[in-house]
Amino acid sequence: MGTRGRWGTKFGFVLAAAGSAIGLGNLWKFPYIAYDNQGGPFVLIYLVCIALVGIPIMIAEVLVGRRANRNPVGAFHALSPGQPLWRIVGWLGVASGFVILSYYSVVAGWTLEYSIRSITGYFVDMEATAITQSFVEFLGNPIRQVGWHFVFITLTVIVVVGGVSKGIERWTKILVPLLFSILIVLMIYSMRVGEGGKALAFLFNLDFSTITAHSVLEALGHAFFTLSLGMGAMLTYGSYLSKDSDIGKAVLTISILDTLVALVACLIMYPIIFANPELDISESIGIIFTTLPYIFQNMPFGQIVSPLFFCLMAFAALTSTISLLEVVVSYAIDELKWDRSTATILTGSIIFFFGVPSALSNGAVGWLSGLTLLSKGGQKLNWFDSFDYLASNWMLPIGGMMIALFAGWAMSYKDKKEEFETGKVGFAWLNVNLWDVLIKFVAPVAVFLVLLYKLGIING
Ligand code: PHE
Repeated sequence: MGTRGRWGTKFGFVLAAAGSAIGLGNLWKFPYIAYDNQGGPFVLIYLVCIALVGIPIMIAEVLVGRRANRNPVGAFHALSPGQPLWRIVGWLGVASGFVILSYYSVVAGWTLEYSIRSITGYFVDMEATAITQSFVEFLGNPIRQVGWHFVFITLTVIVVVGGVSKGIERWTKILVPLLFSILIVLMIYSMRVGEGGKALAFLFNLDFSTITAHSVLEALGHAFFTLSLGMGAMLTYGSYLSKDSDIGKAVLTISILDTLVALVACLIMYPIIFANPELDISESIGIIFTTLPYIFQNMPFGQIVSPLFFCLMAFAALTSTISLLEVVVSYAIDELKWDRSTATILTGSIIFFFGVPSALSNGAVGWLSGLTLLSKGGQKLNWFDSFDYLASNWMLPIGGMMIALFAGWAMSYKDKKEEFETGKVGFAWLNVNLWDVLIKFVAPVAVFLVLLYKLGIING
């Protein structure tokens, strides 16, 4: 396996995995789902899901990946020869990468449009209602929707063709720290000029009467989505990780960074929303695209911060899309024996076409926008929302549960201990025994109960 890629440095893995985790899930999705689910209790459940389910499963993925030194499909096969059923987990992962990338790249495309709009001063002197209106009009423009989706997939393909350390690692090293700094500056600004106190009270209130079964599912599903779990992305990145790295510490760092970005994103947007009742956020799917231009307009140096922010958001999305495509591509390279360029260009093109209906279903094409595929708690979902729902609320949790079962029960304790402890440098409490209990019992049982609940098999 000497020809497989490797991270250039230990830090390269942490940054690339953090780059995969931190993306539209944190900046675009978390603020709007936390808002729709009434903040506080939802946030708390989400944090519990990250700690008890997300972190153990991320450790499992990285560990399985490094042990097997292969793509998700090959990894399960290599570690459990004679038990072909586990390969299904790998296939499910490849399918999830495919589905998620197809609609994710649509929203990622929006960040490109907003980068250009900020650079050209499009929002200067625009009223709050006009900003919202322009977002809705943009969603209704088929050429722009499909065009940006195409551009984004193309960018992803270009980086992934470059391979592991040259393509992925080089970029994330610069961009992740830059994104972090700008987010902190924005949060401080927005908390000071907006209703910071109200935002904090909303984000951390503990009124559990607003919690429904659906919020719990949503919180768990989002924990998987935001940490890039349940589909082998972290497994694939783990397979490029060298043996002298401490998996536990790396995973903890990545998860903490990811969670901080999501909370900071809320503390950028909520103070402004609470201070400006005229901001119409009934279309909560777009809150980042309607509140931020408004913030930038009024803040000092807003004309500089605005393009910088949207470009960084596009980069954050790119470091996530490359990990989604990398799962599909590494499968095609290792198992189908395609070369990297062919695998990347071919799968990228198929995913692009598959995503076109998502790009057109938010208002651009009437009949597509009206077409509903799945329903969530009685609410009918369009093409775009159906794939998001299918992937984050079903495919990722099921994949994650199976990965937990694999790491918990199918791998030998000796192998696990060895992988967990090579390169270990600190955190005595984060040891193989604690993780083993979480991965054997807590994580799979929690996911299983939530799935049963969702299927209506148990009621609460
Ligand atoms: N974690 C990414 C985000 O929050 C999305 C993602 C999901 C990336 C699954 C890879 C795999 O934006």
